[in-house]
Amino acid sequence: MATPSATRAFRDAHDGRFGESYFRPFGDCRISSIGLGTYLGEPTDGVDRGYEAAILTAIKGGCNVLDTAINYRHQRSERVIGTIFERTAVDRDGVFLATKGGFVPFDGRRPADPAGYVSETYVESGIADPEEFVAGSHCIAPDYIEDQLERSLSNLGTEIDLYYVHNPETQLQARSREAVYDRLEETFVRLEKRVRAGDIGAYGVASWDAFRVPANHGSFLSLAEIRERAETAADRAGRERTGFRAIQLPFNVVMADAYTVAPYETPDGTRSVLEFAADVGLSVFTSASIAQGDLAEGVPEDVAERVPGETPAQKAINFARSPPGVTSSLVGTNSPEHVEENVASGERAPLEAGTFEAVFGSS
Ligand SMILES: NC(=O)c1ccc[n+]([C@@H]2O[C@H](COP(=O)([O-])OP(=O)(O)OC[C@H]3O[C@@H](n4cnc5c(N)ncnc54)[C@H](OP(=O)(O)O)[C@@H]3O)[C@@H](O)[C@H]2O)c1
Repeated sequence: MATPSATRAFRDAHDGRFGESYFRPFGDCRISSIGLGTYLGEPTDGVDRGYEAAILTAIKGGCNVLDTAINYRHQRSERVIGTIFERTAVDRDGVFLATKGGFVPFDGRRPADPAGYVSETYVESGIADPEEFVAGSHCIAPDYIEDQLERSLSNLGTEIDLYYVHNPETQLQARSREAVYDRLEETFVRLEKRVRAGDIGAYGVASWDAFRVPANHGSFLSLAEIRERAETAADRAGRERTGFRAIQLPFNVVMADAYTVAPYETPDGTRSVLEFAADVGLSVFTSASIAQGDLAEGVPEDVAERVPGETPAQKAINFARSPPGVTSSLVGTNSPEHVEENVASGERAPLEAGTFEAVFGSS
């Protein structure tokens, strides 16, 4: 588990290289505002080796945030991280590790009969009721998520600092918003207990659409309601304070809805999800920070002129980690050279709040 002393020691060993606010608080830990994602890439040995080299380069270079999910590359991304912690001298406690459960993972490769695999592994075994699955591939029922958490703990061989329920808005294809909140609350009760047991340090929700669309959109889930459900779950689990601490959502130069859409009515006016999260003390991790590679080809000219960075990817990363509320911007890569380029973005300070608004307003 990441600890305050080991993450601060990691910061102290690297801080001299980076600009202001490169390392940011997550509770009492200090974590890098550029994180490494492990989503894309084929489920092959070659890509495994690429991720292994990329992760080691990232940690050596001053990035101590790793993000994965059990379904990424059919569990292979989690297993690469597990191998690194098992076989190398990397100080586990200096690294902040997040994973997710919700999408049904295959085991190393796509099976010949995917539906048969899901049925045999999860339904016939009694782990989940068939009607809990949406499109045969997504489930957030409590027993299922606990099963997935066990599998992730086994793949990673270590405790998990942040465990996300993965894209719960997928469930809205099959059930009402209220029913999704109810299921989340039940699952949160289990996650509260796993925080108490020390298997996970905290939990959260990772999303694609839910938090960045307007409240009248079919994929909308309210962070305010989810947070209240987490408070109730903590209460039900007999915990004084909820372990619900973070969200993940896409945010980048060309996908900035998390900053521009304002679905939250507060006494201070309407707030975006980024503002709301900052107001209530939740950490935000941005995914797709360079638009899944597109922004490495170029960023809009007005942004390029005003955001620090030598390359388009660096400017995109510095944009993503600038707005208030963002703790760390995740960039996926299995290329050590790209890791070096991406982490070097942090040598420049991100934009200050006022400047970010000005740049954003003109883009
Ligand atoms: N709903 C969710 O929960 C969700 C959804 C999406 C992503 N995520 C998380 O967020 C992480 C980041 O998002 P993402 O991976 O989808 O998108 P991303 O970080 O915006 O872009 C990743 C892509 O950019 C390329 N790339 C990275 N650095 C580069 C560079 N310096 N120059 C040129 N190309 C570069 C990578 O290819 P190479 O490997 O060739 O470098 C990869 O194809 C994911 O890995 C995952 O951990 C979560």
